[in-house]
Amino acid sequence: MCGIVGAVAAQEDITPLLIEGLRRLEYRGYDSCGVALHINGELRRTRSTARVADLEALVADEALTASTGIAHTRWATHGAPLTHNAHPHFSATPDGVARIGLVHNGIIENHEALRSELEAAGYVFESQTDTEVIAHLVNHLYNGDIFAALQAAVQRLRGAFAIAAFCRDEPHRIAGARQGSPLVVGLGNQANYLASDALALAGTTNNIIYLEDGDLIDLQVDRVVIVDASGQTVQRKVHQVQAYTAAAELGPYRHYMQKEIFEQPRALGDTVQDVDVITPALFGEDAEAIFSQCDQVLILACGTSFYAGLTAKYWLEAVAGIPTQVEIASEYRYRTSVPNPRTLVITISQSGETADTLAALKHARGLGMEHTLTICNVATSAMVRECRLNFITRAGVEIGVASTKAFTTQLAALFVLTLTLAKLRNRLSPETEAEHLRNLRHLPLAIQAALALEPQIMAWSERFTPREHALFLGRGMHYPIALEGALKLKEVSYIHAEAYPAGELKHGPLALVTDQMPVVTVAPNDDLLEKIKSNMQEVRARGGELYVLTDAATQIRSEPGIHVIQLPEYYGLLSPLVHTIPLQLLAYHTACARGTDVDKPRNLAKSVTVE
Ligand code: M6R
Repeated sequence: MCGIVGAVAAQEDITPLLIEGLRRLEYRGYDSCGVALHINGELRRTRSTARVADLEALVADEALTASTGIAHTRWATHGAPLTHNAHPHFSATPDGVARIGLVHNGIIENHEALRSELEAAGYVFESQTDTEVIAHLVNHLYNGDIFAALQAAVQRLRGAFAIAAFCRDEPHRIAGARQGSPLVVGLGNQANYLASDALALAGTTNNIIYLEDGDLIDLQVDRVVIVDASGQTVQRKVHQVQAYTAAAELGPYRHYMQKEIFEQPRALGDTVQDVDVITPALFGEDAEAIFSQCDQVLILACGTSFYAGLTAKYWLEAVAGIPTQVEIASEYRYRTSVPNPRTLVITISQSGETADTLAALKHARGLGMEHTLTICNVATSAMVRECRLNFITRAGVEIGVASTKAFTTQLAALFVLTLTLAKLRNRLSPETEAEHLRNLRHLPLAIQAALALEPQIMAWSERFTPREHALFLGRGMHYPIALEGALKLKEVSYIHAEAYPAGELKHGPLALVTDQMPVVTVAPNDDLLEKIKSNMQEVRARGGELYVLTDAATQIRSEPGIHVIQLPEYYGLLSPLVHTIPLQLLAYHTACARGTDVDKPRNLAKSVTVE
């Protein structure tokens, strides 16, 4: 989704910093970009519908330098990804000279009404965007103070936004606003910064303030003032975020997706590091009281996070004995459901900013379900602020659009939650608890062993590269893993992939199976092994080519039409995490072989902050 970077400095040329900030935000997905600078009393801008590297070349050609500027990567919502729709947007004085420059993330819901009003007042629109409405509105309200003009303008806006604006008449000053879309302030030496993600400022400053909803910011070289929604000046905590610098580096890897797949042993180790004993306190101070008031679970999430929830349903019902419902957030929020105030509402989100999940959470609360918990990878996110309880996964920054380490760490967190609820419900003996804790500790090694299968997966990916369709099968708690494997493959390689519970094959999808259809089957050594072996026979009988992920003890071996990769051991209830690894590697290597933009697949964004 869109990204914002802004900077005011005393002397220094901030242009390279703005470009570098945009580069660090590229992973979020975008289709155009631009930069606006304050140069000798004028606002100048350059925009591109190509990559940030192209924008950088344009800026270099024009030899633009400045000490105040704003920059943006745009993911089109209102208006096609064309140059005239790219940010920054300008609003001019009546004599046609650009006075206000502005960038915006999010959506302004009442933009049509505002546009009509501003057109009637004589403003001429150059774009189809909702953002240009804000630029003209700020200009309309401007009376010598950009901060005051933005403050007045946001009163008129409905929707979600993060905004940075500056004015020709006020060098060294940027005004910003946050409402429902992230915005951070970076504190520097003789310079201060704004960005939609602290990662954009990695290497520039480690001193970060996370703005809260309703905050406005007055950013100057020697002065940073934050005013909250009630109009009061407030102090917000300054966080140190050193970790970001390392996260932004690729190191020896070709892509962030590859780096993040290989970071999973570390990410899982960090996520369960503090889990020495199963206790509600792992989820927050009030967790014991809240958990004991709940007799069912409702999980709300999107995409990969939804599949983590689906996997957890198998654990929560089988181990903790608690009825569990898992819903796609964008569906739940718009359907009429039957609320139960004794429900533990769980949101799962890597980013903690997914608009659909946040809205579903709000919807659940609106129905009187106040017991809320989030499993989230970003401690400073809206999701964490909005939920009473939380468990922060420690995957670290995830840059590849395809979620990998966030998924497995979510699963680890959900497993810990399952054990906690089981213990509270007297369904976990001390011996079983100790055994599960041992398995959690050993998990990084089991994942490492799965990663070592990479050469075999690469051989599979050569066979997948020319294909346009694939089926994925799983049963029980490995069915969501098949769904995740299919999502990974389609997302990064653009191969059409569908996943089914293997028992469902004969009820329809078997019609698709020919010798042209690769069928990936997740067949661990569990109670359903014999069932899934029968389903494999159904595929073979129709000439389908099987790619089977199994465990050493199953005795499933390669033969003509059946390609088998054996994982070293069956990992019990945590087996879904281990079986995920080869599927991630298959998607990754197939995408590389097909030459797609692995970390930034077409049309997708990392953090989906619009509905
Ligand atoms: O940040 P979230 O976990 O809330 O994001 C949810 C989905 O947008 C996300 O998992 C998406 O499906 C990924 N691209 C999957 O790889």
